Amino acid sequence: MYKILERKDLAPSIKQFVIDAPLVAKKAQPGQFIILRIREGGERIPLTIADYDTQKGTITVVFQEVGKTTKELGTLKAGDHLADFVGPLGQAVQFENHKKVLGIGGGLGVAPLYPKLKMLHQKGVEVTSIIGAKSADLLIMENEIKAVSNKTYICTDDGSKGRHGFVTVVLKELLEKGEKYDEIIIIGPPILMKIGTEITKPYDIPTMVSLNPIMVDGTGMCGGCRVTVGGETKFACVDGPAFDGHKVDFDELMKRLQTYKSEEKTAIDKHEGGGCRCHQ
Ligand code: FAD
Ligand code: FES
Ligand code: MG
Repeated sequence: MYKILERKDLAPSIKQFVIDAPLVAKKAQPGQFIILRIREGGERIPLTIADYDTQKGTITVVFQEVGKTTKELGTLKAGDHLADFVGPLGQAVQFENHKKVLGIGGGLGVAPLYPKLKMLHQKGVEVTSIIGAKSADLLIMENEIKAVSNKTYICTDDGSKGRHGFVTVVLKELLEKGEKYDEIIIIGPPILMKIGTEITKPYDIPTMVSLNPIMVDGTGMCGGCRVTVGGETKFACVDGPAFDGHKVDFDELMKRLQTYKSEEKTAIDKHEGGGCRCHQ
């Protein structure tokens, strides 16, 4: 059993947990994720390692309540326990000899962006960040990102904080101004990563993305997380989740994420006791 040591509500539907998991914390590196189950027989869900403390033996996860399991997870409090907390899974990210990096996080993508920027900052790399959300109340980890960045741009879709518009608008401006980076990291909804990588491609700047296909076992056995990168089939759980964004087939990823929509709707309707709402 894995104890929830701290719970913080970052936004109405976004929660942060610090979990007591010393064996996972001992090996965790930026770019990796865990798979948890709330209870025996429950659904397995992957969440990114948003931070880790090897000394304290803790892992931090940040999640948005989007369906049955994440909503159930959101009812837990400090002192409660999780049945399973498996990891670290996936490949750690590597940055060799970088001097200047731009990190872009949209929505929940800010959480997986943070450990990468933290590592780069600790290595003395000059970090610029652009973070955004639909509105000010949904913007997460602003102080953490600012603490590991030389410069931070904030954007909101509705203009309630920072620049009015998408993070990709600032990305375009910086590149058009002639800013140069050794690498750009873009993490967020697949459509943001698709548009972002289309913007960086003509500038020939290596662009890393982190993919979120549906995962089941997280160990390369089930094939659920299959993605196409550079025309080759990859399993995001063992080959990723970080990939060269200029090679990813985002259209296929977005299509595959829709596969279980009707089952997911049935599960959340049952969970909330609503049953079928098609005639309401
Ligand atoms: P459901 O109603 O079951 O599903 C809602 C949507 O979530 C689906 O349409 C699908 O897009 C996605 N999803 C559902 N099941 C899975 C699954 N088994 N694997 C992947 N996606 C799924 N979310 C966060 O909030 N914070 C994170 O740090 C985070 N990190 C992730 C890291 C990786 C490597 C991956 C693959 C996904 C990550 N996700 C993260 C997404 C998270 O796993 C899903 O939001 C969660 O599984 C939804 O479960 P649900 O039952 O609440 O919703
Ligand atoms: Fe099963 Fe990746 S989650 S192969
Ligand atoms: Mg689910």
